[in-house]
Amino acid sequence: MYDYRLNGRTINVSDKELEIQKDFIKKIKKLNDDFEKENSRKKTMFISTFGCQMNAHDSEKIEGMLGEMGFVRADEEKNADFIIYNTCCVRENAENKVYGNLGYLKHAKETNPFMKIALCGCMMQEENVVETIRKKYRHVDIVFGTFNLYKLPELIYTNIETSSPVFDIWKEHKEIVEDLPSIRKYKFKASVNIMFGCDNFCSYCIVPYVRGRERSRRSYDILNEVKNLAKDGVKEITLLGQNVNSYGKSLDEDINFAKLLRMVNEIEGIERIRFMTSHPKDLSDELILAMAECEKVCGHIHLPFQAGSNRILEKMNRKYTKEKYIEIVSKIKEKVPDVAVTTDIIVGFPGETKEDVEETIDVIEKVRFNGAFTFIYSKRTGTPAAVMENQVSEKDAKIQFNRVLDALNPIVYEKNKEHLGKVYKVLAESVSGNDESFITGRLEDNSIVHFKAEKNVIGNIIDVEIIDCKTFYLTGKIISGLR
Ligand code: 5AD
Ligand code: SF4
Repeated sequence: MYDYRLNGRTINVSDKELEIQKDFIKKIKKLNDDFEKENSRKKTMFISTFGCQMNAHDSEKIEGMLGEMGFVRADEEKNADFIIYNTCCVRENAENKVYGNLGYLKHAKETNPFMKIALCGCMMQEENVVETIRKKYRHVDIVFGTFNLYKLPELIYTNIETSSPVFDIWKEHKEIVEDLPSIRKYKFKASVNIMFGCDNFCSYCIVPYVRGRERSRRSYDILNEVKNLAKDGVKEITLLGQNVNSYGKSLDEDINFAKLLRMVNEIEGIERIRFMTSHPKDLSDELILAMAECEKVCGHIHLPFQAGSNRILEKMNRKYTKEKYIEIVSKIKEKVPDVAVTTDIIVGFPGETKEDVEETIDVIEKVRFNGAFTFIYSKRTGTPAAVMENQVSEKDAKIQFNRVLDALNPIVYEKNKEHLGKVYKVLAESVSGNDESFITGRLEDNSIVHFKAEKNVIGNIIDVEIIDCKTFYLTGKIISGLR
């Protein structure tokens, strides 16, 4: 578990805050212990996470705090005493799902008098959402945003004390609160935030409005966290940020992302380093060199290009051209042998024509991506793109979207086929969802592989030969055992 080390630093506001929250955790723990004595069961929790890896990582912190308060995981959502949705607002369908689930929870709450419902994450930073929750979803007990996650213990305690809903949403928060307890999903791999927020203001994207201005964590704190994780048996680290390539800009240290990678690479016990997400406009030669020279940094880069048409890229405020993007990727491929390149693509941005989509397909064909997340543009109120002319109809966007997929999928399959017959180091991660006798793992390039093996290989890096391949996964045969 986690302790509240102060890492030899002078106590600052963040640490004081942490102490305050620790007291609330103790108070709630006492209440939960009393509940257990009276009801012969522990209070249970259920966390639903929407959206990106940032949210997944925040949910680990939420689970860590709730765990310290004495909550245990519920088998099913409807049986839980504390339900929390960590929401995403990047696209509309993720928002609709939250509203749908909340409607259902109204009935579930009527049958469980102890049930508390909390909402947090990006959606809660939108004023119209919070208004809707207040008016139409009165069964919600606690609402907070992306800047005050660490206050969860206090908010829960206030809700218990006042027996009324607690809404606490901040517009901005510059402090980074270090050392929140967290429960990791995997013992052998972990994510580490290196920065929060985003200053890029891509015209379609709501993230800068809900996650605030870019703030980097001090390298000292990041390195300490990674060292502690390594001591705890973690082999693979993913460094997280909306735009990791601009790491360090908000700090008064002489540091950038390439330097940070080199420092993490030195940490004993860590065997693999991943990072996401990179923005093409900030991708430096220094970073490419660090990727090439740091033996622990995985040969994979997720580099969203979003659209191929220079006209659309400009309207998106992406600050690079199609040609520049292709040039950067060539440089990476040249310096980092066997690197896998994955990307994000948006189809149906306002004003995007069939001809513009041809440019997107051209990038796909030139770069030959190992994988891509493809999205239909979703209009987000408050962003510049939402009020642009020539919004594309859903029907037209879908047609163009399918064209993009038809171009992409055969290439992804072809790229995957390059693995056939070769042996790779694989981190065995979990029992396969489809067949209990199979283990699922990841190659260094982030490809997923299923192979027959005993459960005790999980958490180890082993040699696997690739014997079959589909578009989205590989099948392999184990060559070497544990190490
Ligand atoms: N509509 C569709 N996709 C979006 N993304 C961000 N905002 C939107 C939007 N409004 C996608 C981008 C980004 C990924 C995380 O989500 O491709 O890289
Ligand atoms: Fe959104 Fe652009 Fe920032 Fe990514 S870089 S989070 S797409 S604004």
